[in-house]
This record gives sequence, C-alpha cells and structure tokens, in this order.
Amino acid sequence: MAEFTYYIDEDVGQDIDTQAGDESLPFKSLGFAVLIHGESHKFLTRKSVTGEIPEGSDASARLEWKPAAKAALKKAVNYAKTQKKKAEKAQEQEARDAKVLADRTKVLDEAKKITLEEDKSLPAPVKIKLDDTDPEKVKLGDGKDVKGTRVRVFGRVHRERRQKENMFITLRDGYGFMQVILQGQLAKTYDALTLTRETSMEILGELREVPEGAHAPNGRELHADYYVIHPGWQAAGGDEAITNRVSKDTEHATLLDLRHLTLRGETASKVLIVRDAVEWAFHVAYKELRFRKVSPPALVQTMVEGGATLFGLPYYNEEAFLTQSSQLYLETCLPSMGDVYCIEKSFRAEKSLTRRHLAEYTHVEAELDFVHFDDLLDHLETLMCRVLEVALEDPTIKQYVQDLNPEFQMPERPFKRMKYSEAIDWLNEHNIENEEGKPHAFGDDIAEAAERRMTDIINRPIFLTHFPTEIKAFYMLKDKEDPRVTESVDCLMPGVGEIVGGSMRIDQHEELMAAFKREGIDPSSYYWYTDQRKYGSSPHGGYGLGLERFLAWLCKQHTVRDTCLYPRYFGRCKP
Ligand code: 4AD
Repeated sequence: MAEFTYYIDEDVGQDIDTQAGDESLPFKSLGFAVLIHGESHKFLTRKSVTGEIPEGSDASARLEWKPAAKAALKKAVNYAKTQKKKAEKAQEQEARDAKVLADRTKVLDEAKKITLEEDKSLPAPVKIKLDDTDPEKVKLGDGKDVKGTRVRVFGRVHRERRQKENMFITLRDGYGFMQVILQGQLAKTYDALTLTRETSMEILGELREVPEGAHAPNGRELHADYYVIHPGWQAAGGDEAITNRVSKDTEHATLLDLRHLTLRGETASKVLIVRDAVEWAFHVAYKELRFRKVSPPALVQTMVEGGATLFGLPYYNEEAFLTQSSQLYLETCLPSMGDVYCIEKSFRAEKSLTRRHLAEYTHVEAELDFVHFDDLLDHLETLMCRVLEVALEDPTIKQYVQDLNPEFQMPERPFKRMKYSEAIDWLNEHNIENEEGKPHAFGDDIAEAAERRMTDIINRPIFLTHFPTEIKAFYMLKDKEDPRVTESVDCLMPGVGEIVGGSMRIDQHEELMAAFKREGIDPSSYYWYTDQRKYGSSPHGGYGLGLERFLAWLCKQHTVRDTCLYPRYFGRCKP
C-alpha cells in the first residue's frame, strides 16, 4: 500500500470523514487520522496556532509540522482499534434491532389479520362486577365436567404477564380484581400483543376455580372466550406508559402532581375505599345513637378556633371566612333537633408542613344536649368503637385495613383517661422536654412532638382532659372543682396524636360574655350564638374529629395527606 502523508493540526483541523488530511485541510487528532487511513503512513502534527502565545516563546516554532511522536502514534493506534470494535458492535446491535423490529412487525401484521368473533352458541353471559361471588349468580367450573358461569366483566388492566402461548391479565374495576386467562387466538391478536396497563377491556368467559396450589383473587380465574378493547379504551404505552410516569422511584413532588394516576395504585385506592366505609360507618353509628345530621354553612363571618388560621375571602361587599368548625351552628340546633352531627369540610390556614395538618379537612362534629362531661367521654368512646366495628364488618374493608396496617387491633376499652396535669408530670418523669428544651410546666401547650412521643409510649388511645383555660378556646366550660382548667378533652392515638378535640360548653350567658371579653372578641356578630343562652340554655358539649387523622391512625399512613383524595395543605392547591 502506498504511503501518504497526513497532517494533524490540533487547533484548526477537523475530524470529519470528508477531510482530505493534507496540509490545507488537516485532521484534528492523530487517533482519527489513523482510524480513517490506517497506521502505515506518515503523520505530521503541529500544535495550536491560535490562542495566546506566551511571552518569549517562538511563535513560528509552533507552526512547524513535526512527525508524530512514537508514543502518540501508539496511543492513536489503540484508539483506532477500540473505535473500530465499537463501531462493529454497534452495527451488529443495529442489525439485531432491525431483525427484532422486522420480526415484530411481521408478527403484528399477522396479528392484525386475526379478528375475534363471539361464539353465539355459548350461554348468554351474566354481567358481574369483579368481586361478585354471589353463588346464586356465579358458579365456578372445574375445567372438566363442571361448567362455570359464563360472565361479562369490565375493568382496567392492572397487571399483565405473557407465558408462552397464554396471557394472564389482572383486571381491576374498583370493586375487586380478577385473574383472566387469554389462550390460543385470543392471546395472539394485535390488541393482545400491544396490550398496555390501564387499558379498559370488556371480557367474556367462563369462571373456573384456580388449579390447586395456584392463587388468584377469590380463588377463581376467568377463561376468556371473547374480549373487546373498544375505540379509545387503549392506555398510552412507551414513554407515556403509566408505569413510566408513576413508579417507586418517582419524586414525591411529581407523585403529588400525578395524584390522579397514583390513585389507581393499590395503597391509595385501599385507603380511599376504607375512607368511604368509615365515613359511612359514622352515619350508621350516629343514626343508631339517634343523632340527626345537619349541614351548616362553609362561608361564615365568625371564627371558632382563633384568628390565626382563618382563611378570609371577599364576599360581595363584605368580608367572610371559610369555616374552621361547625360547632357553633350545631349548638343552635340542639333545642329543636336533639343531638346533632355533621360531616363537613373545615378550613385552617395552617402555615406549616406537618404530618397531620391540612388546609382543608373533613370534620366529623357532634353536639350533645343535657349531658355531663363523663357522658361526653363515654359517648366518644362508644362512637369511635362502633364506627370501627361497622366499617370492619365488611370483609373487604377488614382485609384492606389488614393489608395497610397488619398490626391493627380494636382499641382496648375503656380508653385511658388522663388529666392534663398528670400528662405534664408524666412528660417530666420521662424526661420529655417542651419546645424550649425545658421541663414541662402547668400552662404549657403540649407540643405535637411531645404529645406523640407520650402517645406512642403509652400505645393505646388516651382521653387527655382538663386543659388550662388559657390554652383552650373561649367557649369551653370551666371545671367547677378547679377553675384553672376546662372540661375539655383531646383524644390521642398512637402514631398520630390528637384526633379529637372536644369540651363542655359555657352555658351561662354572663360567663360566655366574660369569655368573649377575655379573648378580645366582639360578641355582637355572635348574637345568634349567645342567644342560645338567653332562650333556654342547657348543659351541653361536643367535639370535632379529624377524619383524615382517624384514617391515618387506622390505615397506618405516615401523613394525613395520604388519606385525602386531593390533599390541600400549605403551599398546595392542585390538582
Ligand atoms: O381541636 P379542634 O380545633 O376543635 C374544634 O374545631 C372544635 N370546634 C370542634 C368541636 O368541638 N366541634 O379540631 C378538632 C379536630 C382535631 O382534633 C383534629 O383531628 C382535626 O379537627 N383538625 C385537623 N385535621 C387536619 N388538619 C388540620 N389543620 C386540623 N385542625 C384540626
């Protein structure tokens, strides 16, 4: 082979295929020159001609062409070799990819030719939800002599798995899950081969017992004989596939933005289904206890729990707020409706991010007429336990609670009752300090962290009672025996802390007016509340229970946000 001379100029040269490599169009690197032309040539190199020339150095020397040094040539040869190998490998991979693509295209083209037809000679299908196990409606076949019911189901692909000739799908419809088997032609259609998670499907087939040793929801599987993915039912695939948008590694903030998709996950959906059952159980329990439900307004002009957490808003030409609590309205219902309750939204402009604070939460509130403080506590305990009982009577809910919170046990009754002053002593005995790092003193508002530590150590529900007047709301009744404190209660639960706040209410007009004065609140806008003490007052009390906190405890969720459909809290009001 003839020997040529190639030029390499590290500055103005260019490493491109079309570069001649002569003096006027030099390469940029020796490696590239060797890669293109092989090593058996002459290579002349020179250093940069641009850039600042250091003082005293000979600029013209830098413009001279010099034969490439031996070491540099060796390095260039090695570089060329690896580059060649890399290129060869890439080419092989490309060929393999092309073959896979061609094969796939061929398979898909073949698959497109397969069209499924429903066999009309089969028994007419019965439409069922995926959790329907009513033996009157569905019978399971054994795959041999006993034929199972032919059913029609609808749902979304929760998971899918291919196995040789068959395809297994876990279908989900919000009621339950069903294992579906596609066999033969059914597993070979274009739709089957391109099936993506979350695609909606209509499937017809026979329900059979799962083979011995195998597991599937409700111990059964659907042997499909026909299915349809109707237009628009297909879920996005590739980069847009749901598994690429929400996964274990997705950042927390992104997951919150994609709450509408995470809701399809097992944990979020179980929590929300338990939430539905619990909310319903409150209604059942209240009805059993003869409480009447009312719906107080959310737009108000009075505060209940202090001005710091009020959300204000323009209301025509006046100012209004989003309600912090329906308590005061509930109190006005007692004279004509008896004991009342409501399950409404409450709003708190909480300016910190904690595990248990929301800006909008569901508040279960009740008011009891002609009661004493002990009656209120007994009622609360009865109610909470009955709610759990009713919710867990449903085997699905029981299972979901078990899945979410395997250690869950019905709370031990009676709940532990502890006075605030005893809690202060307990905290000091256990060296749990206040927020300033000092021992707790009577009058301290027990901080969230200390309260949670105490509750976690005691590890059972606690009714913490008799808080000092100064740290509680204006409407709370003072204890006759000890006027420093109020007949008030917080119910504390392990893992969460306070989930209920309640009290007996001041029922004497003068005492209530004095309380307004003490708190610096103008009583004039509360005329409808103070009038209750003017027209037949009564000893009464009530409470508010944070539904999200109750659920965080029951379902062992780290934050109350995890128990909301679309949580609203400091800094977040979407989606
Ligand atoms: O202790 P609170 O502020 O009491 C009241 O509002 C009373 N007026 C209720 C009544 O007697 N009718 O709130 C009651 C409960 C708390 O124990 C807590 O569970 C929940 O409401 N709660 C919150 N939950 C989530 N986020 C917040 N920002 C909450 N603030 C209170």
